[in-house]
Amino acid sequence: MHFNKNLNENMLLVSDLHLGDSSKNTTRTQYMKLANQVDKEFCCFLDYWSKKPLHNQPWHLAIVGDFIDFDQLTFKPNLNQGRGLNFSITSREKEWGLQRDAIRSSWMLETIFERHFNLFSSLVRFIAKGNKLTVLLGNHDLALYWPKVKETFKKLMLKLYLEQRSQIKGDFHLDEKTFLNKISILDWFLYYPGEFWIEHGSQFDNLSGVQYVLKPLNPVKQTLLEENVSTLGIKYFSNKIPGLSVHKIDYWLLPDFFKWFVKIGLKATLKVGKGYFDLLFQSFKYWFFFSRHENVFFSKEQKKLLTKLEKKYNFKPKTLNRLVKLHKRPASKNLYKLANAFVADRFFLFILVIIIIPGLFFYWKSSLIFTLFFFSLFIIFWLLKKAKATENYHTIPKLRKQARKAHKITKTPIILGHSHFPMLYFKNSKYPYYYNIGSWLPGNLGKHKNGECDCSFSYIKIDRSKTPVEISLERWCGVNHKPNGDYLMNFSKPDFVLD
Ligand SMILES: [Fe+2]
Repeated sequence: MHFNKNLNENMLLVSDLHLGDSSKNTTRTQYMKLANQVDKEFCCFLDYWSKKPLHNQPWHLAIVGDFIDFDQLTFKPNLNQGRGLNFSITSREKEWGLQRDAIRSSWMLETIFERHFNLFSSLVRFIAKGNKLTVLLGNHDLALYWPKVKETFKKLMLKLYLEQRSQIKGDFHLDEKTFLNKISILDWFLYYPGEFWIEHGSQFDNLSGVQYVLKPLNPVKQTLLEENVSTLGIKYFSNKIPGLSVHKIDYWLLPDFFKWFVKIGLKATLKVGKGYFDLLFQSFKYWFFFSRHENVFFSKEQKKLLTKLEKKYNFKPKTLNRLVKLHKRPASKNLYKLANAFVADRFFLFILVIIIIPGLFFYWKSSLIFTLFFFSLFIIFWLLKKAKATENYHTIPKLRKQARKAHKITKTPIILGHSHFPMLYFKNSKYPYYYNIGSWLPGNLGKHKNGECDCSFSYIKIDRSKTPVEISLERWCGVNHKPNGDYLMNFSKPDFVLD
């Protein structure tokens, strides 16, 4: 970690590439086609900026979480072909996908490297030209927490470099150690004192974060990672439903689901219904066997790690503790919150009312008024819950609220990803206190109003030679549109139409 401003590296930040999320119901060839767009854009983006260094200084590229989507990655190894597989697949894994332990996650990572060969080759070229790479963990790539997976990532990058360096123009001829030293994988944050604080942002979201950011393990079975509402929903529901995009349903409300049911027809709707009950049952099992338990050892371990980090970054004692306190307690730890997140409370209430009201009416005809009163109460209750749930689900306000608090602690701008919506916020100040990088998911945003660019590949560029550092939120407008000032996004004056 370098804190010395004299080092003068400038930053490029991207987030939420979600490599692997096109794996559902696709063959290898279909996957490669789907993956091609993001690979192509990312390669061009890196090649473009590596030829255009700011003030002749190297770049430090940070991928701020959800780079690789282990949760939505549904590839399974072909056991007949095998390539020295050192694990077998259980019947549960055949049904619900591979567990995210260290060995299986390493296999998933190797597969992603194979299928996004062009993207990783361009990253290697970028580093070979003297730039640096930091990968931060997000909720979809929590598997990078495992030391074995971190090691696999670096090994695969080095292998690619050694294979390709003879063809790289402008290669710095790095030895193996120097090359590897240019790659870091960080479990929580990237911080430049007095300049900025960067983290993925899922810890500020009760549906996606984990209880202990530096120890994101299952409290009972420590060979596995902790799971939250988002992971459970993906594993036990959306991964099983063909054509369903988890990035879209995150923002759906009841009417959107009804529209979808009408579109897919009765048979598919019944399948979704079965999937929903599977999700509720499996999530209840997860709560009962794992998440309701506390692990005091993890809490102690995290405290020790926090003290170490505070010394490393010259923080005042307890500063990191204050930042950790801003993290939301995972909804999966509380049965009611878990049920509420999956709308199970309202669903069962609805069923109950459907059964009770006609019953009351039938056996207690004289009490029509009582029945109506009961029904009105239900409607009020339901609406209140619905409003509360909307607040719960929406990532953007949750992140903004916590970023404001984090800014008061670090006294620097807070930069997050996770929400997929590029934004910046001011509060009585010339400089924004919070930036969101947005995502690299194709088609995430609507069209630009002037129709010149409809891509969603937003990024942040930081010129560290300025004081305070100059942070610009921009977007890569596609291989045919080079970025320029006209494409600078400023969400304090929205120029985007959201889908
Ligand atoms: Fe995320």
